[in-house]
Order: sequence, then C-alpha cells, then structure tokens
Amino acid sequence: MPARGSTVTDPHLTVNGTRRPLAGVGAHTSALDLLRDLGLTGAKEGCAEGECGACAVLVLRPEGPDEDGAARSRWTPVNACLVPAAALDGQEVLTAEGLGDPGHLHPVQAGLATGGGSQCGYCTPGFACSMAAEYYRPDRAPGAGQDAEHGPNGFDLHAVAGNLCRCTGYRPIRDAAWALGPVPADDPLARRQERPAPPTTPTRLGGFVRPADLAQAVVVLAEHPDAVVVAGSTDWGVEVNLKGRRASSVVAVDRLPELRGVSVGDGVVEVGAALTLTEVERALGDTVPLLARVWPLFASRLVRNSATIGGNLATASPIGDLAPALLALDTALVLTSPEGEREVPLEEFFTGYRATVLRPAELIRSVRIPLPPATHTTFRKVAKRRLDDISSVAVAVALDVVDGTVTRARVGLGGVAATPLRARATEAALEGRPWDRGTVEAAAAVLAGEGTPIDDQRASAAYRSAMLGTALPAWWAETAGREVRA
Ligand code: FES
Ligand code: FES
Repeated sequence: MPARGSTVTDPHLTVNGTRRPLAGVGAHTSALDLLRDLGLTGAKEGCAEGECGACAVLVLRPEGPDEDGAARSRWTPVNACLVPAAALDGQEVLTAEGLGDPGHLHPVQAGLATGGGSQCGYCTPGFACSMAAEYYRPDRAPGAGQDAEHGPNGFDLHAVAGNLCRCTGYRPIRDAAWALGPVPADDPLARRQERPAPPTTPTRLGGFVRPADLAQAVVVLAEHPDAVVVAGSTDWGVEVNLKGRRASSVVAVDRLPELRGVSVGDGVVEVGAALTLTEVERALGDTVPLLARVWPLFASRLVRNSATIGGNLATASPIGDLAPALLALDTALVLTSPEGEREVPLEEFFTGYRATVLRPAELIRSVRIPLPPATHTTFRKVAKRRLDDISSVAVAVALDVVDGTVTRARVGLGGVAATPLRARATEAALEGRPWDRGTVEAAAAVLAGEGTPIDDQRASAAYRSAMLGTALPAWWAETAGREVRA
C-alpha cells in the first residue's frame, strides 16, 4: 500500500537529537529493543507489560495551541516495552542518556543521585524520564499548595505512579522530586516544547502500517482482514511480549485525524476514539465528573499517555476500568466501516469474553457521552494496590437525585462477568426511592448478587460479591448522603 505522503523509503526516528534509521525494524520490534540495540541501555525491561516503568522514555507529542495560537509540544513519557518501534517513524525520542551525562547531569538525575534516590539503579533511568516530564509540565505550579501528592514545587507524584523501585524506597525519590527547582528559561528541552512536535508520518514498515487517514485505514483493513488493529498498543504489546503473539500485519489507527476530535455540545460530549486517556482527561477536565474520578485510578500516567479510549473498549476486557464508568454514563459508540457509520449503545457493544459487535474492517470512530452528567456519581475500584494495578472489581454509579428521590440510576460493573455489564436489578432497587440510608442498604444487598463472578488469581468469587456489596454503603458513609456532583 503506497501511504500518502509517506516516507517509506526513509523511515527513521530522532533519538537524543541524532537521526537513526528504522530500516529493518519489524512490526513486533518494541521501541525498547530498538533503543537497547542502539546501545542506549539506560531503559530496562522489568516486566514487559507496562507495570514497572523501567523502560520509560520520552516522546515529543503535540500540545494544544498556546495563547498566541502557535502549536507547542510536550515531552511525554511512555513505556517503551509496549510501543512498536515502527510507530515512532518520524518522531523525536529522548532517553535518560539524552537528559544528561555524568559530567552534566540533568536536574532530575542530580536530585536522584545526591538525594539517595538510587541504589541498584535498575529503575532509575525510567524514574528520571517520568520525573523530567513532570519537571517540564507547562502548568506545574510552584506554591499552589502542598498536600500528600503534590510538593511545594507543584510536582505531582502521580507522574511517577507507573515507576516501581524495589530497593531504594520511595521517600528519597519523592524528596528528590519535590526539591526540583524552576526550569531555567534557556533550558534546551523546555525550549523544544515551544515548537511543534514532528508531524505524523504514514508508514509501512515490516508489516506495520500507519495509514494516512480513515479512508485509507478502512481500505487497508478490508484488504487485510487478519490484521491486528492497534492504537496505543498497551494491550497488544503485552500479547507480543509475554504471549509471543504475532500478526501478519499490524495497522495503527492512533493518529488518524478523523478519530482524534473532541467536542462538548449542549447534550453530548463526543470524544475521538484515538485520543489517549491523558488527552481525554485534559480535554474534558471536570465536564464529566465520573470520568475525572476514574483517571487517577486507571493504570498509570505512563500507560494513560499511550492507551486510547477506543482501544480500551475495543479490547473488551471484562476488567477494564473505563467500561463500567462509560456504561453508567449511558455512552454510545460511533462505529465506521466501508459500509458507513452506525451508533451502538455501549451496553450492546460487548457480546462475550473479549468479543464485540465490531465487524471486519470496522473501527470505533468516537465515544458519545450524554450531558448533563448525573447529579451523584462515584467510581469504586478494588485492587491489590491502590495505583497502577488491575481491578478485581470495579463499580461505577451515576444517579440523578431530585428533591431527595433517585429519579434515574445507572450502575456499571467490571470484574464480575465475562463482559462489563449494567447492574439492572440494583438500578431498579434505587430508582424511585428516597436517597437515604435505607435505600442504600437495600440496594447494596441486591448489588452483592449481581454478575457471575469467578475465582481467579486476583480474587475469589465470594470476595468479588462481598466487594460489590460494600460499594454503595462505603460511598454513602464517605459522603454522609450529601449532595455531591463528583
Ligand atoms: Fe515494565 Fe516496560 S518493562 S513497563
Ligand atoms: Fe534498585 Fe530502584 S534503585 S530498583
């Protein structure tokens, strides 16, 4: 397929300011393997599945226009173990080696070294990359107020929630992060963010195809019905790394312009399926309070910088965190294919374990969330760790309460069936009832019986049911029944 505007004869990426050829890279070569083969061995493989951040590197991604209308960019940390190397064709990448060297340490490296933030050092290059991204975050606000998660310099510890350290301990790392000073005006990496990121390059490289636009994508998919569709590759990358899966062709849809819009109208929010979760989070702010509750609990910043909203739904994981929330929000999906477009309620999208209504060559174009948002919402996630973990059980609740009565209830569940599902019996136990402790306790008993949970390595079926039963009482106890919108 001759990709429009393609540089297929000259695939390359720029690493630490040096142009590197991509020729010979296959569809299943990770960016981590490529970088290490180039001798850039700071980034490590710890888990190969997006959970440790030892492989973190920085990619220059587009940032919204600034006040002058000029396009800017942002150093964005990602897990290099999950990113196909071919997906970086034409892009700029920065590794820990590019941040500084022993004679000229970057401030984050100097802080880790002098503050005792590194012992064996296995995790340290990854921490340095995540910390550097936060150091350069344009809206990091020193003096905005310190709390358990933000330092006096505005450093948000969620920036390193996807980086694990098994020997130093986190306090010296936190202290190094919170001691970082302001970014000097002449810092070259900060200055680079003032200019646009490289444009997306349509690519065809070793079985990896990045079409130029949606029309080209559906043609490619129609011609290659066995192709694996990837966006952020945070799911496919795990399949490749840990299960050894391979595909004859891999089609990347994450930069298709038709899948990257966002609009907030009177009655609906429409979000492009190829937006990363970080981009959705920034674009929506508090427009949909239930989603604002989900983001901090969804994997880590490293994963959210790559994973897309459409990809998370298309993989149809029964334990994905987003689907329960979007079910509670009455979300619909716009699907597009050579036959045209159709709108499908999310509730009808999942047809079985890891199965959906998507037809061959059909893509999720966008996600439609009705407005206004419900008056009372909560998202409860039960996992073995508070952050950077997979749900054992997830419960999302969206209620409209008018004059003390629940007029509308939506409850989305994850981890208790082969698919995410609506808890319809619980919704019926809530609707038309006063929003009080009695209703909460009655509905909680119903919720404990929803779904068909199973025993697996994360939790037993009995534990899952018990956790379902605690969701509503715990929410009630936290809010004491107050009118809350978030
Ligand atoms: Fe652990 Fe990549 S090696 S996140
Ligand atoms: Fe050894 Fe972090 S310094 S794992």
